[in-house]
Amino acid sequence: MTTHPAAQETFARATPVRLWEDGFARDPYSYYAALAAHGPVGWAELAPGVPAYVVTDRRAALDLLHDTETFSHDPRPWESTVADDSPVLGMMRWRPNTLFADGAAHVRYRTSLIDTFDLVEPHDLRARVHRAVHVLVSRIGPHGEADLVADFARPLMALVFNSLFGLPDSQSERLNAALGKMMEGGAQAAEGEAEFGGYVLELIAAKVERRGDDLPSALLDHPAELTPEEVTWQVFLTLGAGHEPTTNLVSNALSRILGNPEYYSTLTNGARPVMDAVVEVLHHETPLANYGIHYAREAVAFHGTWLRAAVPVVISYGALAHFAEQADEDREARPRDASHLSWSAGPHTCPVKQHALLITTEAIERLTQWLPDLEPVLPRERLTWRPGPFHRSLTALPVRFSPRAPDQPGELP
Ligand code: HEM
Repeated sequence: MTTHPAAQETFARATPVRLWEDGFARDPYSYYAALAAHGPVGWAELAPGVPAYVVTDRRAALDLLHDTETFSHDPRPWESTVADDSPVLGMMRWRPNTLFADGAAHVRYRTSLIDTFDLVEPHDLRARVHRAVHVLVSRIGPHGEADLVADFARPLMALVFNSLFGLPDSQSERLNAALGKMMEGGAQAAEGEAEFGGYVLELIAAKVERRGDDLPSALLDHPAELTPEEVTWQVFLTLGAGHEPTTNLVSNALSRILGNPEYYSTLTNGARPVMDAVVEVLHHETPLANYGIHYAREAVAFHGTWLRAAVPVVISYGALAHFAEQADEDREARPRDASHLSWSAGPHTCPVKQHALLITTEAIERLTQWLPDLEPVLPRERLTWRPGPFHRSLTALPVRFSPRAPDQPGELP
């Protein structure tokens, strides 16, 4: 590993900001302020004993995200420096997929994924989301109360992906259970990851045998000629990269809508679009809060900090969005939507942004049409967030409503 006297000096001066602490989940903004106090690049810990640089400055973030010569997405040189059981490995370990690839390999994987998702027409995706919402409202509707994270946002994404994969709804339970265990962490996480792996392996094996009108089949037949193993890894990533952030985009936006009576009362008559709430989330609690992890190919001076090679450089999308919002308030700049980097930028920018936005807005609109008097059980400030450096994720969003069944006669939305 390359070392430099200036690097040691930087580390000695700055106390690492511990993004793994429970306090970070309670009040991320004070942690972002502490990081920004270090300069454009702060010094943090992603887990106890796992150091990382964290970029909180927009100019520095854009420079890094576009500079593929200096920075790589390949974590393998770093991996040899961390314990095998480190809790961050699930999100950071190398796999042969578009997220961890550079150069030609990246273009090949990414293009095949983009082309495949492009085959999903908006009206088709909308219909799948509506069907998924119908399934879930059928389940929760009669009870008059629910947790919109565990009973809606999370299983919604399992249903939508499962249908895009050409599998029956019954399989979505299996997917949801595996992903749920992964989120619980600890021993459950390893079990969940194994079950999740089994689901994807079986799925691809079935599609190799017999193609269908679905995403994995389109990937297998893409002109890039990915092997079944490569397709397995891209599907694994699609679920990993898509499920959790979209679940959180849905539930974080719902928490803003339902916590704000003025918003919600106008929502059902269409005065204020759901997209407004989604944009608010992207500014205040963006789902993928800290990610965009790069590694300097060799030690380099970057925006005033000497970066060592093989140490993660994290983009704080959460801090960037928060500071952009503050700057906008100060100078009333517009348009606000362009000022956050919640979908990243550069070659690894989210390739499925439009699909994720459509899923989110349709799901919320449909749910609030079926259950127009959803009422939060807790005021928004009493909601709690999951610990961990990467995701901005509610632990639960309990609600009450008038019980109903979706096929109740005469009450179609
Ligand atoms: C249908 C849902 C989604 C799918 C399938 C999906 C898929 C992906 C994939 C495959 C990548 C890797 C691209 C590459 O490396 O070339 C990616 C990147 C990214 N996605 Fe998405 N995504 C989804 C939803 C979201 C949502 C809701 C957010 C947050 C607002 C988000 C934020 C990002 C960001 C920030 C990156 C850059 C990765 C990084 O930081 O390293 N995505 N997404």
